Amino acid sequence: MDDDLKRVYIKTYGCQMNVYDSERMTDALATAGYAPVRSADDADLVLLNTCHIREKAAEKVYSELGRLRELKDSAAAAGRRMVIAVAGCVAQAEGAEIVRRAPLVDIVVGPQAYHRLPELIAAARPGRPAIDTEFAVAQKFAALDGIAARGGERQRHERANVRAAAFLTIQEGCDKFCTFCVVPYTRGPEVSRPVAAIVAEAERLAGEGVREITLLGQNVNAWHDTGPDSREWGLGRLLFRLAEIPGVDRLRYTTSHPRDMDDALIAAHRDLDALMPYLHLPVQSGSDRVLAAMNRRHTRADYLRLIDRIRAARPDIALAGDFIVGFPGETAADFAETMSIVDAAGYVDAFTFKYSPRPGTPAAAAADQVIEEIKDRRLYELQAEIDARRSAFIRSRVGVVADVLFERRGRLAGQIVGRSPWLMPVHVDGPESLIGGIAAVAITGAGTNSFFGALIASPGVPVAAAVAAVEARA
Ligand code: SAH
Ligand code: SF4
Ligand code: F3S
Repeated sequence: MDDDLKRVYIKTYGCQMNVYDSERMTDALATAGYAPVRSADDADLVLLNTCHIREKAAEKVYSELGRLRELKDSAAAAGRRMVIAVAGCVAQAEGAEIVRRAPLVDIVVGPQAYHRLPELIAAARPGRPAIDTEFAVAQKFAALDGIAARGGERQRHERANVRAAAFLTIQEGCDKFCTFCVVPYTRGPEVSRPVAAIVAEAERLAGEGVREITLLGQNVNAWHDTGPDSREWGLGRLLFRLAEIPGVDRLRYTTSHPRDMDDALIAAHRDLDALMPYLHLPVQSGSDRVLAAMNRRHTRADYLRLIDRIRAARPDIALAGDFIVGFPGETAADFAETMSIVDAAGYVDAFTFKYSPRPGTPAAAAADQVIEEIKDRRLYELQAEIDARRSAFIRSRVGVVADVLFERRGRLAGQIVGRSPWLMPVHVDGPESLIGGIAAVAITGAGTNSFFGALIASPGVPVAAAVAAVEARA
């Protein structure tokens, strides 16, 4: 490494938005002379990009800070300064409290202020931490345009491998205020990134060889902006625009709220081949009583009707959800409704969580908290059902031919791994030269969370013939 460069180690917790933000922080820091390293041991700057969504996630940060104490002390003993920065949602939620609890922290920077990291590093002094938790989303988005462009250069130089798929943040924040959730407090109000900036970043990614883009937002389908045609654009229209970019072959978006699934977005699932047949649409509970207490602003019937409309538009769509069990006041009957909506909606996968009271959110103050033992039991039961459905879905795809975007080498020699249209990975015997590209694969076997497949010579070969050919070769 160049001796003039300082070293930054970034550890990322939480959702994909944090993954995207960590990449942008790496980009922003590159302009301040920092190069990323894989270990905190001899880093000049250690940055924890944190998550506050559940208690465990937040506590992980403090245990990591405990471990960093020793590293920072030994750096100091060797006459070297190690700067410790806490970014992300814990930084936003706890602000100066972090420095009180962990005085080794030099910088606290919220998710909407990290474009100012280089200034904060310059400002922080031992014993005088720099704290910035302002919601400066518009400025951040403006700064990101330049940061991401320079980052593209850096990644072209640094990445040995082709990057086949990338995230692109188009929306930040949440105005929904579900009663269990910290996100409206940690990320602030809903703000959409302008069309032109999104298109420019997507074009840049395509230029770097990225073939699949996942649009990100805490409420990604709440995205809206005035288009170049002076009309109001929603996510559906934006997806069509992005699909026009040469090289952008596949699009996804996450995470969406049922309330913001409008007709244009559903039509995009019907008409836009580039939009992959996978949708993550959290419901949280199957009980109307609990949905109301959660302030989800939709009923079970609304949600199921919505799924019917999406399925009518895209019959092969793979639906994934999010669930919280043990929300305050959840009865056995409420939980039975959650179990039954899993089947009614036909999920192929879901993230399942035990309700975790978050300070400052309305549900945390509810008197009727559910005891841990019941939460554990419900989580186990729900997870077993989801696991069974995932396995059944994976088995149901055997014999199907699908386009796979190859991303990396597999663990076994001669194996490459790619993304199926339904997001779950596919393992195939094939040449590394395919990495970064899309090829037709016959799904020949089912793993626990992934598929096994075989490359077929020519796309469009009828399924049975392709599978027969694969079997004959085996
Ligand atoms: N914006 C997304 C989700 C953000 S958080 C959406 O609205 O869908 C991701 C998931 O974490 C949520 O869908 C929810 O299932 C879970 N979650 C959020 N707060 C939680 C809490 N206090 N306890 C347990 N799970 C929670
Ligand atoms: Fe949290 Fe609800 Fe907003 Fe999703 S919609 S981020 S769960 S408040
Ligand atoms: Fe966590 Fe913040 Fe994402 S709380 S889930 S990192 S928006």
